[in-house]
Amino acid sequence: MSTYQGLEILFTREQIAERIKEMGKQITHDLEGEKLVMIGVLKGAAPFLADLARAVTVDTTFDFVAVSSYGKSNRTSGAVKLIKDLDEPIEGKNVLIVEDILDTGLTLTYLRKIFLQHHPKSLRIAALLDKPSRRIEKIEADYVGFSIPNLFVIGFGMDYAERYRNLPDICLMPPDAQ
Ligand code: PRP
Repeated sequence: MSTYQGLEILFTREQIAERIKEMGKQITHDLEGEKLVMIGVLKGAAPFLADLARAVTVDTTFDFVAVSSYGKSNRTSGAVKLIKDLDEPIEGKNVLIVEDILDTGLTLTYLRKIFLQHHPKSLRIAALLDKPSRRIEKIEADYVGFSIPNLFVIGFGMDYAERYRNLPDICLMPPDAQ
């Protein structure tokens, strides 16, 4: 396995770029002739949204939301709260929620529920990574970059205590550093 700055790489920047290109093609195909609003979930989704948006050729705008994390341990209580709302209404629009990782599914279940209350024309989910073994809520993404086992991943937006988000590859957090 190759490394970057001493960290084991799970997916290289080339593999990520290739996969995002494919996802962009699929999304373009599915939304041909339509307008799209990509909604990034801060902060982890920012690099993925930037690349995915440039991989689609549909007429696309961006918006961002932020949810409180309460720490991962409390997340399992289902306590997810919106701390930054949408800037623009999504009623009647084609919405794509863009996430770096779909884990327990609590965040996306919450966001899907509140976005559906605004009556979008359609609502889809794109997740760069999916950890199906961790799921608590029954929710799937329409577009998944890579499905992975329960590994602690960092880089390409994903953090450990806010660090490592800027790694260009998706790497593994060394067990002795967690
Ligand atoms: C991560 C990720 C998702 C959420 C997924 O966010 O970006 O929003 O966890 O987990 P779930 O499926 O178990 O709800 P995090 O809280 O780490 O915030 P961040 O994006 O700012 O890193």
